[in-house]
Amino acid sequence: MSKVLYALKDVEHSYAQRTVLRIPALDIYTGEILALVGPSGAGKSTLLRLLALLEAPVRGTLHLHLGERPITKADARIHERRQLGMVFQRPILLSRSVRANVAYGLRLRGQRDANAQVDAMLERIAMRDLADARAQTLSGGELQRVALARALILEPRLLLLDEPTANLDPHNVHLIETLLREQHERYHTTLVLVTHNVFQAKRLATRVALLLDGELVEIAPSAAFFESPRDPRTAAFISGDLIY
Ligand SMILES: Nc1ncnc2c1ncn2[C@@H]1O[C@H](COP(=O)(O)OP(=O)(O)O)[C@@H](O)[C@H]1O
Ligand SMILES: [Mg+2]
Repeated sequence: MSKVLYALKDVEHSYAQRTVLRIPALDIYTGEILALVGPSGAGKSTLLRLLALLEAPVRGTLHLHLGERPITKADARIHERRQLGMVFQRPILLSRSVRANVAYGLRLRGQRDANAQVDAMLERIAMRDLADARAQTLSGGELQRVALARALILEPRLLLLDEPTANLDPHNVHLIETLLREQHERYHTTLVLVTHNVFQAKRLATRVALLLDGELVEIAPSAAFFESPRDPRTAAFISGDLIY
């Protein structure tokens, strides 16, 4: 059995008195690729922000186990936060070159001579030729690849991704999925991936969770989730019959 990385217990989150997430229990394990699927408004991004320790749940406990002591939003230390990478749905890049954006995190960490590492990363995202292009001139797919590279170059132990391929063309979707798979194989990075694309979840995930109206309807290993879902709502969602 893998090590528990996140332990959530009786977690609730709300905005302006409205509860948007209610999770009695959820464990996430080291080294897994967990896909969170569900319709728009289900609470996927909210859950990811809680996992990223950007917000604390209004009720219940969310513990992240990276070292000896469990971490919560309130007591996360800088070296622990550094082990956690996040790629947002609409990434914001610096209005500088692609290279500067990819190198940025390493610079912040005081690493001056990062050229070889940055070049290798540019190669991996197939953007060596665009190294000097300004971020504002990039296409959506290129932008998302740079945002991913910026996170991957720091070799986080855990990477949280919010719809990293939403609205991208098949070529870019394939590139990004390959990068994620590679990272997982090379570094055993734990990935938590929000996607409304069930095919992507099927291609990438080792475990899949369905969120509906802020509740965890079902969570199961990928094969079981897709081939023998227990909840009729899961069956409806994966067959595309759930209207949303
Ligand atoms: N910062 C916020 N303020 C108020 N309501 C929010 C905020 N973020 C999310 N919500 C609401 O919480 C619910 C879940 O949103 P979200 O987590 O973004 O869903 P998803 O990512 O699954 O589409 C939605 O009803 C949304 O309107
Ligand atoms: Mg969202």
